[in-house]
Amino acid sequence: MNIHTEFHRFLNRHDKESLLKQKGLAIWMCGLSGSGKSTIANAAERVLHQQGHFTIILDGDNLRSGLNSNLGFSDEDRLENIRRFAELTKILVNNGVIVFISAITPRGELRDLARGIVGEENLFEVYVKASYEACEQRDVKGLYAKAAKGEIPNFTGQASSFEEPQNPDLTLDTEALSVEDAAIELVEGILPRISTL
Ligand SMILES: Nc1ncnc2c1ncn2[C@@H]1O[C@H](COP(=O)(O)OP(=O)(O)OP(=O)(O)O)[C@@H](O)[C@H]1O
Ligand SMILES: [Mg+2]
Repeated sequence: MNIHTEFHRFLNRHDKESLLKQKGLAIWMCGLSGSGKSTIANAAERVLHQQGHFTIILDGDNLRSGLNSNLGFSDEDRLENIRRFAELTKILVNNGVIVFISAITPRGELRDLARGIVGEENLFEVYVKASYEACEQRDVKGLYAKAAKGEIPNFTGQASSFEEPQNPDLTLDTEALSVEDAAIELVEGILPRISTL
């Protein structure tokens, strides 16, 4: 490449993807709190990292404590939460990054919003499936115990509904699969979408 002749051309997505030797993709992981979104995203990311891929995780917890710290769990705020996730994801995917989004995304309307912003062709929807009862038993963050006492308004699956995705690219039933098997199934599902070969 001649730096002088190429200087006025903006780098595009293809340039970034050539450098990274991968295609950008958003892996949108939805499911109840405690269903396993973060656990599986971290395990799958490790596998991809070992295979030489560049990935980023956008996790509900991290974004809610920073970028989205002014948002709560009303319908309006959940929409804005997902809109910001999606806009950030779009920028990253358009720069060749493989992005895992770990966010409850409880309703079809929210998933449609995300798909509209990120683009259908850039999005791989994963339903991380576990029953309310299973998540309540795990109760990783102690939220289900608080919700049972009525201490969490708008708790997803209880006062606020969770609509199951109608047509996800992949469903991972975490009551039936181990973390390792779920991560492997996920990696195998996305490999054709991130491969440049
Ligand atoms: N097959 C499985 N896949 C993922 N997690 C599992 C599985 N089996 C059991 N678990 C356990 O379930 C819990 C899932 O917690 P995790 O924080 O990943 O949920 P989450 O969906 O990210 O919840 P939140 O929306 O609150 O962030 C972990 O303690 C994990 O060890
Ligand atoms: Mg999580």
